[in-house]
Amino acid sequence: MVQLTLPKNSKVRTGKTWPKPADAKNVRKFMIYRWDPDTGENPRVDTYFLDMDKCGPMVLDALIKIKNEVDPTLTFRRSCREGICGSCAMNIDGINTLACIYGLDEIKGDVKIYPLPHMPVIKDLIPDLSLFYAQHASIMPWLETKTVEPAKEWRQSVEDRAKLDGLYECVMCACCSTSCPSYWWNGDRYLGPAALLHAYRWIVDSRDEATPERLDMLEDPFKLYRCHTIMNCAKTCPKGLNPAKAIAEIKKMMVERVI
Ligand code: SF4
Ligand code: SF4
Ligand code: FES
Repeated sequence: MVQLTLPKNSKVRTGKTWPKPADAKNVRKFMIYRWDPDTGENPRVDTYFLDMDKCGPMVLDALIKIKNEVDPTLTFRRSCREGICGSCAMNIDGINTLACIYGLDEIKGDVKIYPLPHMPVIKDLIPDLSLFYAQHASIMPWLETKTVEPAKEWRQSVEDRAKLDGLYECVMCACCSTSCPSYWWNGDRYLGPAALLHAYRWIVDSRDEATPERLDMLEDPFKLYRCHTIMNCAKTCPKGLNPAKAIAEIKKMMVERVI
């Protein structure tokens, strides 16, 4: 289990405690990070209680129930509700994960929910992912070709297609990068596990014709080499991917091309 620290702007204080639902027999306590840029006050942790006999099984079900029935000001991202869009990433019970596929039964005791750590917070559970997306864009996340475009399609063998397994499934949730100590300390210069996993995804794509340029771009003391194989990224990825392995493969390619 990857236990993480509070977000960057945390001078967290105890906030409002909302009333318990009347006549409920199966009540659960939720402690949720709140920060409102409009008030400018320090962040706080609000306490909510839900009747679990009337709540769905996932953490996102609880958040939606709180927003719909208790406190409409609670702010968080979500869209697909099935682990595909990556937008409901947050820190739940000390783990960076997706709220829509994280079961409430996996948590013992009170449910503690914070934004992804070490990122600027826009509001409540919503981190500012601008830098994260810019880093993704910087690795050229598209097929780069030089030969004349084929009439129908760029062909790929079954074996070469299989090399993309464990890479293409990334949903860009940022759980890995925001669990990585190297990214916490050098996030402005180290690309972080998510962007590097995507870099490797295009490097090993047999149809791509820009491998030398891609490796040149990563040949930098910070962009790639700040990974110290701490492995938080692989432990926390809610899609079961292993960015650390992808980073190690890029480093291997760097060594092989200078030998
Ligand atoms: S293995 Fe590398 S990328 Fe993954 S958490 Fe550790 S330092 Fe970060
Ligand atoms: S590698 Fe996993 S944790 Fe990282 S962004 Fe992709 S899906 Fe999220
Ligand atoms: S709502 Fe899309 S991944 Fe959770």
